[in-house]
Amino acid sequence: MIKCKTKIYRAEWQSPSNLAIVKYWGKKEIQKPLNPSISFSLKNAVTTTRVTASHSKKAGFTFLLDGNKKDTFNAKIGNLLQLASASLPFIATHHLTIESSNTFPHSSGIASSASSMSALALCLEEIQQKVYNKVDYKLDMQSVSELARMGSGSAARSLYGGWTIWGKTPLINESSDNYAIELKDIHPNFMQIANAILIIEPESKKVSSSQGHALMNNHPFGEARIKQANDNTQQLLEVLKTGDWNQFFDIAEHEALSLHALMMSSNPGYTLLHANSLKVIEEVRKAFLDLQLPVGFSMDAGPNVHLLYPKYEEKNILPWIEERIRPLCYEQKIIFDQLGSGPKKAVKIEH
Ligand code: PMV
Repeated sequence: MIKCKTKIYRAEWQSPSNLAIVKYWGKKEIQKPLNPSISFSLKNAVTTTRVTASHSKKAGFTFLLDGNKKDTFNAKIGNLLQLASASLPFIATHHLTIESSNTFPHSSGIASSASSMSALALCLEEIQQKVYNKVDYKLDMQSVSELARMGSGSAARSLYGGWTIWGKTPLINESSDNYAIELKDIHPNFMQIANAILIIEPESKKVSSSQGHALMNNHPFGEARIKQANDNTQQLLEVLKTGDWNQFFDIAEHEALSLHALMMSSNPGYTLLHANSLKVIEEVRKAFLDLQLPVGFSMDAGPNVHLLYPKYEEKNILPWIEERIRPLCYEQKIIFDQLGSGPKKAVKIEH
């Protein structure tokens, strides 16, 4: 008897993490946002994911992070695969081996779910096209963004370089709750945004982002938050065109502080801030007002602070970071990053 060789399909993509300036906080239906969010993709903080799909009666997946079996993302991957199998039927007839690695350390406060779920969605979409033998597979980024959203909301925004908006707003016709789209005509100033990620505490969050999102459902300030985020979206869209750094810092800081205020005023309330997160904020405000340094901050759902400044002002900012900021960081750790150009397909990969 001749044994048939099982057909194997592979895809490999590198995808970035992103930093939201207007934050997504609170969701409805299947991972759709309560409000629009705006972010930029990072350059250095990326995940590389390779998916190998082999035909099998037993569908399912194995996840390896840096070569080791991990269950870190099992729930998110499981969700994504389940929801994606309607549009990508090969998932139901293949076993998937998902191998991932990040350029940034685990627990560094960088959103690895955004980079890893977007890299996974890119691989799945490409394999689907290979299985159906579509030779010139040019991926439609909006459908990949929609897939990525199923794994992690913020991942919907990682499919593009530069600036991105996710969530319906009357200000942009093509905007959608289902997927993110690229923002065009950004002022050159904001194409040169730098982001120094300050590790204040290596993260092991007491309250996960999923729990935080859920607490927005009956939040006493829920409606006010939706209005605030829509107002900040409108202002940020204008500022991204005019190039005004001071107005930009105002919006970024207002959003970061509001995000943490929403956590504190949830029921039950909680905080993820560390004493040094607050000390850094004080230093940033002093640097901006007293030293006239063009620097502001953002924060995600954790204690780490993201410094924001023009890359072209780096030589003025770095000495201040070394003197006033680095001592406040856990083991003096800082990751320097900046705006990046979006996902990249692996150069050579066997079919
Ligand atoms: O994608 P999630 O579920 O990890 O939520 C991300 C939420 C924030 O990082 C706090 C804000 C954002 O828009 O990225």
